Amino acid sequence: MAEGGNRGDGGQGGAVSLSLRIPDVPTVVAMNELTLNNGVTLPALGLGVFQSSPEDTRTAVAAALQAGYRHIDTAAAYGNEREVGQAIAASGLDRSEVFVETKVWISDYGYEQTLHGFDKSATKLGLEQIDLLILHQALPSDFEKTLAAYRALEKLLSDGKVRAIGVSNFMVEHLERLLAATDVVPAVNQIEVHPYFAQREVQDFGRQHGILTQAWSPIGGITFYREGEHTSTLQDPVIVAIAQAHAKSPAQVMLRWGLQQGRSVIPKSTKANRIAENIDVFDFELTGEELAAIDALDTGRRGGPEPEAITLGTFGMPIPEA
Ligand SMILES: NC(=O)c1ccc[n+]([C@@H]2O[C@H](COP(=O)([O-])OP(=O)(O)OC[C@H]3O[C@@H](n4cnc5c(N)ncnc54)[C@H](OP(=O)(O)O)[C@@H]3O)[C@@H](O)[C@H]2O)c1
Repeated sequence: MAEGGNRGDGGQGGAVSLSLRIPDVPTVVAMNELTLNNGVTLPALGLGVFQSSPEDTRTAVAAALQAGYRHIDTAAAYGNEREVGQAIAASGLDRSEVFVETKVWISDYGYEQTLHGFDKSATKLGLEQIDLLILHQALPSDFEKTLAAYRALEKLLSDGKVRAIGVSNFMVEHLERLLAATDVVPAVNQIEVHPYFAQREVQDFGRQHGILTQAWSPIGGITFYREGEHTSTLQDPVIVAIAQAHAKSPAQVMLRWGLQQGRSVIPKSTKANRIAENIDVFDFELTGEELAAIDALDTGRRGGPEPEAITLGTFGMPIPEA
């Protein structure tokens, strides 16, 4: 897989003209490609497969690759790594053309356990090398175990078994403790970011330290697929009005907001028409005023689990061997 090459443009290219340089963050080479702090590149927009059944995952990944996606985000905890790998293998695309990202679950934290967690994921994916392997959550109640898991990622990186390593749902305090105790700055922190919850302090910390923010629930899925007090970002009047002004959908506007602010975005859908819609975001541009209007929607209310409350007791679950 070429580093620094233009490998993310299958279907995402075309009208891309913007080339941004945001200080102290991974360089945005072009809207459709980001460069991580170790020089590895990835398509900025990928397909997420959280809550996709194994069967739906196979068809969703196939539809995504057909539509031009070249980046898939899965996790050991999603129970669908095997189907991700099957769909990639069946696509006929060269392995080097698809960026595969997965996550180690907390039940597999610890140095040896996490090395073995890699083996489990690689076997299910049918891959020898994983492009980006991240810790799914910090485990604040046992941070030493989190650090041991991260040291295993460092070992996998130096052995060439993964091309980049990172974390997910790490708050500033967790990042500070990690940076103080380990050698490799995480390439990515995948966190909840959508117009109603932007976690700007975590994003700012990442920007200052060369850690790319990757947005989960980038179209606000967590605001409408779970019971809660939030109203859906898809129906937000500000977002709907901006969408109408550009003859685009609210989902496309939110993805564009993320991309223009330098984030990686990984929208999930199992429906071929939405999968195609979600990658059709490279032919329009939001104005500074529109970006600011979306920024102003932040409620400060988290949709996902409180990172500080993650424990093996409440969230632990065995990850099957095969
Ligand atoms: N690290 C973490 O802890 C964490 C947590 C959550 C998610 N993630 C990752 O981030 C990915 C995306 O996040 P997410 O799944 O929470 O939320 P999301 O991508 O913001 O939203 C997904 C929801 O939106 C619907 N949808 C997709 N495209 C749409 C469109 N164009 N118009 C209307 N509805 C649309 C999907 O339904 P259909 O499938 O029916 O289309 C699904 O209900 C996940 O799949 C996963 O890979 C990571």
